[in-house]
Amino acid sequence: MNQEEQKIYKLVRQNLAFSYAPYSKFAVSAAVVTQSGKVVTGVNVENSSYPCGICAERVALFNYVSQGLIKDPIRFLMISGNTPQPISPCGACRQVMSEFMGPEAQILLTDKDPDQIKRMTLKQLLPYYFTSEDLKNGQSK
Ligand code: THU
Repeated sequence: MNQEEQKIYKLVRQNLAFSYAPYSKFAVSAAVVTQSGKVVTGVNVENSSYPCGICAERVALFNYVSQGLIKDPIRFLMISGNTPQPISPCGACRQVMSEFMGPEAQILLTDKDPDQIKRMTLKQLLPYYFTSEDLKNGQSK
């Protein structure tokens, strides 16, 4: 990890304490870092009606949009959990990443050991993903 990544890693690990996961007891924390250096965070937020809960990655990505940063492209998204291996994002989050992250954007998967970082691109995480182009091409006139 370079110095910037170490700083974000520290923040993401600290924010695990904000995770609201009384049902799964599985805390996840994420941070989006933009080209201009803005940092937007998210944690998973669960609900007694289970499907109403949401993953940390989507909270971070939706916060990024909500803060009006969409013109400031995402450089990387870092995710962390208390897993023995770098955390693996769910399919829904991968699809949401594809909406807001370019092909060069990095997804950094981490756990409590900073040396176990996994670096991926969206294409590696979600090959042959559905895009707005597919939507346009399949719409009836
Ligand atoms: N979760 C995340 O926030 N991100 C992931 O990458 C995997 C799963 C959350 C959803 C739920 O609150 C809990 O972890 C257990 O699935």
